[in-house]
Amino acid sequence: MSKISLAVEVAGLRLRSPLMNAAGVLGMSPPILKRVYDSGAGAVVTKSIGPAPRTGHPNPTLVRVSCGALNAMGLPNPGAEYFVDEIKALKEMGVPVVASFFGGSVEEFAEVASTLSKAGADALELNASCPNVQEELGMLASDAGNVEKVTATVREETRLPLFVKLSPNVTDIKEIAMAAERGGADAITAVNTLKGMAIDINFKRPILTNTTGGLSGPAVKPVALRCVWEVAEAVDIPVIGCGGVTTWEDAIEYLLAGASALEIGTAVMTHGFEVYGQVNEGIRRYLEMNGFSGIKEVVGLAHQIGEEQDSRADRCSIRV
Ligand code: FUM
Repeated sequence: MSKISLAVEVAGLRLRSPLMNAAGVLGMSPPILKRVYDSGAGAVVTKSIGPAPRTGHPNPTLVRVSCGALNAMGLPNPGAEYFVDEIKALKEMGVPVVASFFGGSVEEFAEVASTLSKAGADALELNASCPNVQEELGMLASDAGNVEKVTATVREETRLPLFVKLSPNVTDIKEIAMAAERGGADAITAVNTLKGMAIDINFKRPILTNTTGGLSGPAVKPVALRCVWEVAEAVDIPVIGCGGVTTWEDAIEYLLAGASALEIGTAVMTHGFEVYGQVNEGIRRYLEMNGFSGIKEVVGLAHQIGEEQDSRADRCSIRV
């Protein structure tokens, strides 16, 4: 039986599969992230790492809602120095690591990027888009100038492939993606969670202590897919799709929209670690059945077919 390779290259990072976990959903414990890799992911993404230990918001920080989940953790993490050993442990287990990171200022972003690069991460994902914190830079990804400045400063600190994770909670994601590209990003991760909320009708107050949280899961897929589509048209660097990927059909939609790789988060909570293997197998079958020899041939194809149809429609239209 022919086994088509699912290998992809994203911003110089060669992965055996286009799938990764989305930052945060599975924390940072090396044995848990190893399970993601063993289940078929091409690399693992750590929880977002900041400059210093941080407790995040008090509980409740997570609530299941129809078609997804709302979280407002507040970026809890034990700080970059602690993660050095965790990254080394993952590397010793042979797992490619994308270290997600954040800072409260331009200098902090640069400092954490430098620490994580020295720790041996294979790539960095700059989290410019947490909807649940009010730091000095606020929700960084809502300001193109800030995104360009932070990306450029981090770029000077590291030679590793640098992904910048953007937010769907902006008026024009294309403008922000172009700012990240100008700043020196090697790829755009599109997108983080969609800001939302839930109210407990018996207590008559918001369920999350932070009042609002980030919505993830199948509910956000059409929004995230639109973001990938728009970003893919706006920049020349690869796009990593993220948002509600649960089935192989979701994954194919993202590839056709222009994603070169995908991050799966909430589906691990609903479908278990097996989701990576299942999505891999579905992608492989789709490639085989449609006569493709690899993932690259599918990436962005919906844009080309759309253009062909437009020009055909132009040629066929009757002019009066
Ligand atoms: O609240 C949180 O820790 C969420 C982080 C994120 O969505 O980036």
